[in-house]
Amino acid sequence: MELSLGEFALRAQERLDPAVWDFIEGGAGEERTLAANTAAFDRVLLRPSVLTGAGSPQTATRILGRTWDAPLAVAPVAYHTLADPLGEQATVRGTAAAAKVPVVISTFAGRTFEDIAAEATTPLWLQVYCMRDHSVTRGLIERAENAGFEALVLTVDAPRLGRRLRDLRNDFRLPPGMVPANLAGDGFAAPAAHSRAEFDPDLDWSVLDWLRSVSTLPILIKGVLTGPDAVRGAEAGADGIVVSNHGGRQLDGVPATLDVLPEVAAAIGGRLPVLLDGGVRRGRDVLAALALGADAVLIGRPVLHGLAADGAEGVTGVFSVLLEELTDAMSLAGLKTVADIGPDLVRPAPHTP
Ligand code: FNR
Repeated sequence: MELSLGEFALRAQERLDPAVWDFIEGGAGEERTLAANTAAFDRVLLRPSVLTGAGSPQTATRILGRTWDAPLAVAPVAYHTLADPLGEQATVRGTAAAAKVPVVISTFAGRTFEDIAAEATTPLWLQVYCMRDHSVTRGLIERAENAGFEALVLTVDAPRLGRRLRDLRNDFRLPPGMVPANLAGDGFAAPAAHSRAEFDPDLDWSVLDWLRSVSTLPILIKGVLTGPDAVRGAEAGADGIVVSNHGGRQLDGVPATLDVLPEVAAAIGGRLPVLLDGGVRRGRDVLAALALGADAVLIGRPVLHGLAADGAEGVTGVFSVLLEELTDAMSLAGLKTVADIGPDLVRPAPHTP
């Protein structure tokens, strides 16, 4: 039985085709940002408080008007079908068996929104890549909304997909027959080329007005790495900010998400929920992110690791381990509730030289 997310990754690597493994694991360029994401968590040290009576910590939290069992969510990741034939249907089932937390479904999901929603007992959010043909994007949003999805997550760091050298070397193609179940058309087998042909490369902040005109759902923007952009997002009407560098897959050389989180959180000043993804691999990483200003974190690659290792049960395993580690870390750090997690928990304290 796996006792850490690293063990799920090992099981997944044994099972997956090496080129698929590289597609999932890889980052852009020299993968410096990819490495920085996990290294930033490794550098954080925690300052526990003792004798606080935190024997049974509560991980529940409230975000965007809903109660989540824990400050965790599934990050949007394309083609869960690369890891398991049931794809996102297995993911939502597996996640819900461990915790009621949102699952963000990619524009490039391997299963239809309707089939995923039929399995879901946990909130679904739709990740939006805005296509050159906005009517395609509008159609996806309408379908997701009709299927009961509860929020939109607009990805803003991808006018095209980043230069991922592993995929270029492998001449990575999706396996025959694998298509994004919610999109019509062709050319999907080569994701980088497809993104250049289809993604709208000229988006600006007015895209939020457009999204608002086609949907009443809350809109989060994913891929923000600076305080000024976070403020612009808030002014443009976003309902939440996701601090993300796309798991190091877009612009190599941008900082680790944990390192820019304090700047973004300070700029937002509690006006909107701030979520973070990139490199979260342990319960104590969740604590570090919340201490430095996040309201919750999203988990990307480890979800596919669980799925590849053991289908829906593997996803349940990944979230069960994270929850166990989070509860354990909260108890040992003297924290009774998520609201007790603050900047004093990390050392050196943020902004202290
Ligand atoms: C992604 N990510 C991503 N993001 C997005 O907005 N839309 C997408 O379709 C995808 N697809 C995708 C595929 C794969 C294989 C990976 C690994 C990642 C990025 C994802 O949402 C998230 O930002 C990172 O994965 C978070 O980092 P970790 O948890 O993987 O370190």
